Amino acid sequence: MSAQFSGKVALVTGGGSGIGRATAQKLAHAGATVVVAGRNAGTLSQTVKLIREAGGDADAITTDITRPESVANMVTTTVARHGGLHVAINNAGMVAVGQVADVDEDTWDAVVRTNLTGTWLAMKHEIDHMRRHRGGVIVNVASNLGAHQRMPGLGAYLAAKAGATALARTAAREYIGDGIRINVVSPGPVDTPMSLRPGETTADRAERIKGELPIGRVATVEEISDAIVWIASEEAGYLVGHDLVVDGGSTA
Ligand SMILES: NC(=O)c1ccc[n+]([C@@H]2O[C@H](COP(=O)([O-])OP(=O)(O)OC[C@H]3O[C@@H](n4cnc5c(N)ncnc54)[C@H](OP(=O)(O)O)[C@@H]3O)[C@@H](O)[C@H]2O)c1
Repeated sequence: MSAQFSGKVALVTGGGSGIGRATAQKLAHAGATVVVAGRNAGTLSQTVKLIREAGGDADAITTDITRPESVANMVTTTVARHGGLHVAINNAGMVAVGQVADVDEDTWDAVVRTNLTGTWLAMKHEIDHMRRHRGGVIVNVASNLGAHQRMPGLGAYLAAKAGATALARTAAREYIGDGIRINVVSPGPVDTPMSLRPGETTADRAERIKGELPIGRVATVEEISDAIVWIASEEAGYLVGHDLVVDGGSTA
């Protein structure tokens, strides 16, 4: 086990599955005490179990990032139970399909509330703690879709992700003076159910991606979590307000 994050408390939203789970496992492997947050207590406790079985330290806090009181509780409970908050990975997100003129208001609200407002709420409470303790690291998981590339049928998601990226880069300038280093990781398609189109199997997706992406395949969750953990580490200490696109050449 490496000691890169030894003594640090790291919070990962959406840590019960996919990229968030892989990131939580890597941070724990690197010595952090990891708190995973999401709505589904069952998947969160599975992540905690995997980390503890590998010799790491982990905890779960059931959280809905769209609800202000739940997000406030996520941060205060992390600090109360573990004595601090040094690294926050704002990874929770959702996708829904619908062209601009057809998407209904409930879908729009859910997508924006989760990917943009929920990310802002998490940052607000994380930054509030970190600035009082003179430092910390925040990484928002956005997408190559939004700030870098457009995709018909995903307007709400793209608008929310581009907004969350702009928010993170603004906050990066606002709080680096308080010792808080904020960056973004923007993945291309990743091997989780989120990158499947409606009705698509993983084999269908592999065939589609072969033609769409220069690298010819989706990313593994490990490839994305490597980038997240690196940008959160001291090795990336001079990166501030950076948007690291990890997309197999999609936007090259
Ligand atoms: N997969 C891709 O191709 C891809 C590409 C680019 C960017 N991304 C981004 O990467 C991030 C992780 O996605 P993933 O691929 O790992 O998919 P995933 O396995 O579906 O992960 C999404 C996570 O977000 C959590 N979440 C959703 N709504 C939430 C809420 N209201 N409150 C708290 N947690 C919530 C979910 O947990 P609960 O259901 O338990 O709440 C889940 O653990 C997302 O932000 C996604 O937009 C993914």
